[in-house]
Amino acid sequence: MNDFLRLFRAYGGIGRGSLFFCYRWLVFSHHLVSEAIPKEGLIYDLGCGYGIFSVYLALQHPGRRIVAVDSSERRIRSGRRAADALGLGNISFVQDDILRMALQPAQGAILNDVLHHLPARSDQRIVLTNVCAALRPGGRLIVVDVAPGPRWKHCLGWLVDNILYFGDNISYPQADELRSMLEAHGVFDFSVHPIHAGRPYANVLYTAAKK
Ligand SMILES: C[S@@+](CC[C@H](N)C(=O)[O-])C[C@H]1O[C@@H](n2cnc3c(N)ncnc32)[C@H](O)[C@@H]1O
Repeated sequence: MNDFLRLFRAYGGIGRGSLFFCYRWLVFSHHLVSEAIPKEGLIYDLGCGYGIFSVYLALQHPGRRIVAVDSSERRIRSGRRAADALGLGNISFVQDDILRMALQPAQGAILNDVLHHLPARSDQRIVLTNVCAALRPGGRLIVVDVAPGPRWKHCLGWLVDNILYFGDNISYPQADELRSMLEAHGVFDFSVHPIHAGRPYANVLYTAAKK
């Protein structure tokens, strides 16, 4: 059975959540981003939402130990149910605040569509500082966010973010700012990969590694 069907069924199949599941599957390049993430060791998915990508990551490589964190109890419950339905033993879901939680030394950390939902630029810096400190030497940081272009894809993403998360102070991180912040915390080899081809939003994948 292919990945889409396995996850679709694990998230309850046709029902209340299926439209959102299909939407996430269509707008996000699961395979491409998964390839940038270490295949073994402790990996944090911070701000995991319903955990669709976290479960996908655990399913792809049993050597990964995924810890998926979100502040929403409902989303954590949904992710946990899906992981149980698939019988995955290499993923756990934790309800916590990523601005405050203590992180264990990790091989990788993912911030997928999360930084721009934090209330202030200073909060983005707090999360990044904590993540950089937790990465093991060689550990990888993966950030998926929204790039300034292509312009129409950027504007579409901005519109959707401001409708779905009405009232949030949406602030997309800038590549240069991100790079210098990470380098100040010992995380280098910063690179920028546009991943919007065939997708409606200006998604960009930033990768970097701890020295
Ligand atoms: C746009 S969603 C992205 C979800 C997921 N990464 C994905 O790509 O499907 C942002 C998520 O970040 C979570 N979040 C925002 N601030 C948080 C915080 N301080 N601590 C934990 N989770 C947080 C929200 O609850 C939400 O589920």
